[in-house]
Amino acid sequence: MSRISESTIHEIRNRGDIVALVSRYVELKQAGRNWKGLCPFHNEKTPSFNVNPDRQIFHCFGCQEGGDVIGFLMKHEGLSFPEATRTLAAELGIEIPEERDGHDAGVTASLFEANRLAQDLYREALRMPEGEIARNYLVSRGFDGAAADEFAIGFAPARWDAVAERLKKNRIKGEVGAQAGLLAERKSGQGHYDRLRGRLTFPIQDVRGRVIGFGGRALEAEQEPKYLNTPESPVFHKRQAFYGYPAALEPIRRSGRVILCEGYFDRIAFARAGIGEALATCGTALTVEHGAQIRRRTREVVLVFDGDSAGQQATEKALAVLLPHGLRVRAVLIPGGADPDDYLNKEGEDALRGLVDDAPDALELSIRNAMRQGIATPDQKADVVSHVAPLVARVSDPVSRDEYIRRVAMAIDASTSAVGAIVRGAARGHLPTPQVDQETLGLTRERRDAPEERQLRALARICLQHPNLIGDETALTFQEILPGGAWKSIILQIIEAASDGLLLPGDSGSQGRSVDVFAIESRLDEEARLRLREIAMDQTSLDSERSEELVLADLVGWFERRGLDARQRELNRRMRDPNADQDALLAEKQAQLLERRTRLGVGPGGNA
Ligand code: UTP
Ligand code: MN
Repeated sequence: MSRISESTIHEIRNRGDIVALVSRYVELKQAGRNWKGLCPFHNEKTPSFNVNPDRQIFHCFGCQEGGDVIGFLMKHEGLSFPEATRTLAAELGIEIPEERDGHDAGVTASLFEANRLAQDLYREALRMPEGEIARNYLVSRGFDGAAADEFAIGFAPARWDAVAERLKKNRIKGEVGAQAGLLAERKSGQGHYDRLRGRLTFPIQDVRGRVIGFGGRALEAEQEPKYLNTPESPVFHKRQAFYGYPAALEPIRRSGRVILCEGYFDRIAFARAGIGEALATCGTALTVEHGAQIRRRTREVVLVFDGDSAGQQATEKALAVLLPHGLRVRAVLIPGGADPDDYLNKEGEDALRGLVDDAPDALELSIRNAMRQGIATPDQKADVVSHVAPLVARVSDPVSRDEYIRRVAMAIDASTSAVGAIVRGAARGHLPTPQVDQETLGLTRERRDAPEERQLRALARICLQHPNLIGDETALTFQEILPGGAWKSIILQIIEAASDGLLLPGDSGSQGRSVDVFAIESRLDEEARLRLREIAMDQTSLDSERSEELVLADLVGWFERRGLDARQRELNRRMRDPNADQDALLAEKQAQLLERRTRLGVGPGGNA
């Protein structure tokens, strides 16, 4: 894959619109110059996620995630830097000159290419005479040509070499087709044959719409298995893949929820009923990775699994995966053991929509379900509690967890303390330590509250916002008086960037122009970069009563005094040494007092 030039990256950052990009996933409200919303990267109830359109960056004060348009897309969609850059470039119509080198990325690209070729072939085959069996099947399930088209359904011909030939014609090696999972190697070791044959095909896409794999449904009774999916590959990770991307992204954002189902036809049934926010797993149970994907996009999930006992079990498993992510989970058990697709065909769109909209809380449902075995005897009560305790223990919010404990206790007429003890036992025994976000730990606050930290922060902010106030002399002073560490390098880099003219475009009134943080980020280590983003997001005025000049002078004075005090303490220590040259030390002391007077304009003071 080609290297993307600095100037292209620069152009993407300049032309990208971070507020618009983030708004696709997060509901933002304007707050001063910034936009605020609930952080998509950690679980929070009050918004600490900020987007700054002037600087084109985002930052979360809760979990410390931050960055630019490219960084946002990388984190949110799990893309690599080149992938995110290319996605944005494509959207903005910025061309990236291709010059191939490197080879891992090249392999990935060829897998996508193989999948794309197979997808073209499958769709063509559905219209060919050989596709008649598939067309008839689709009609029997209520699909016309347009519907098949809309969902990009295709037909894998009942031959051994349809895809193999198509790839060969496009100069893609059999090994690549095999790595993509489209082909399998012949026993003889010579050549490859098509894996999906005589099946209806469903393309599985990533969030960017690239085909990563296929699901293939049998068309004849004797065909086994009913669904054959292409295997895991370097581009198809079943633990995080969903069927329904990227079409579901916008509906998910709009509706604020994800509907999770188990089948390709079920996902399509929802879409046909006007419910676009449904996703289906691809032949696997829901994993933690799936949960993390969902969590980045929404906080509410509706589970709609088959209405049989397997469906109930799958619902509880999914619930156990989703609860620790802090998601609100509701669940539908479809009457009569049907799946969503059956239900849509039998009862119609409104009925299906009604089921979803009125879905009860999934944990409540599990509690009620467990109670169906009876709650008359002490043993039965204990069974109910031990059944639901592992689920309740996974509720991430302590207040709602307590509430569930109370409800279980009430439902079976037991004491809250007994139920609570079992839930806590379940939490200790079988659960990984839940992730505690930094906000809860108060880590960030503590670090910020140390006086030196606070002053350094304020100084860095002034330098960033008003670099015009910092002359060459002040810069030299900083070099000397600031304690070493992340803040010092940030401040010095800001000053250097300002003198290099790396300023944000904008009006250059009396305030002067602020420094472009991107110009500095690459020169800082990760920790310093994080702090820089934090202060870059800070829109509050440092001190509304006084001018920036005065605030700056005070800060400089504070550090000067601190530095001088430290030197004075050191000198006093040396003067107590009986072997020291007292005359020389006295002379040094005089010099120090003079320096203090000229620097701070005050007498000796301090502790002698
Ligand atoms: P179901 O057996 O519930 O089928 O499998 P379905 O979705 O109702 O399909 P239709 O309506 O009979 O066509 C649900 C999902 O489980 C996976 C597939 O992803 C399927 O969509 N599955 C099922 C397999 O991977 N292999 C199988 O053999 C069966
Ligand atoms: Mn079905």
